[in-house]
Amino acid sequence: MANSQVLFVCLGNICRSPLAEAAFRDAAAKADLHVKVDSAGTADYHIGEPPDPRSIAEARGHGLDISSYRGRQLTAADFHEFDYIFGMDRSNMEHIEQVDPGDGKAKTAMLLDIVAGSAGREVSDPWYGGEDNFRATWLDVKAAAEALVAILIDEAN
Ligand code: 4NP
Repeated sequence: MANSQVLFVCLGNICRSPLAEAAFRDAAAKADLHVKVDSAGTADYHIGEPPDPRSIAEARGHGLDISSYRGRQLTAADFHEFDYIFGMDRSNMEHIEQVDPGDGKAKTAMLLDIVAGSAGREVSDPWYGGEDNFRATWLDVKAAAEALVAILIDEAN
């Protein structure tokens, strides 16, 4: 669907979901898709904070500047404002379900469920990891961003 509204959700909104947001913004722009994109955390730990420096560095390595992104927490209103809400792992999906007001429009799914061959796999939390973990996060969210662009183009046709 053109003009789709997509929200990416992780726990802190400083590691994984900002990278997912950046990867999808980039993939959508390259495909000339007009989308509204944002990211949020299920927790309130990092509201108002920029992404983790390791996520900023990973994005910068792909030519993307996410340093102006700021953490925020998922709200019930998001289910009315977004068409799709993607969680990174099963714990995120449980929290998303708890916040879901039930009368919104958003479809919810675990992000890698839309990637061929990766259904059921989580985007694992790189917070306690190192650079390699952030690279793995990037590869996961980039594959999902490309899959989502293909899905939205299909829906529009
Ligand atoms: P994220 O990673 O959910 O990918 O943003 C985390 C960030 C912060 C924390 C945990 C995970 N934390 O415990 O503060």
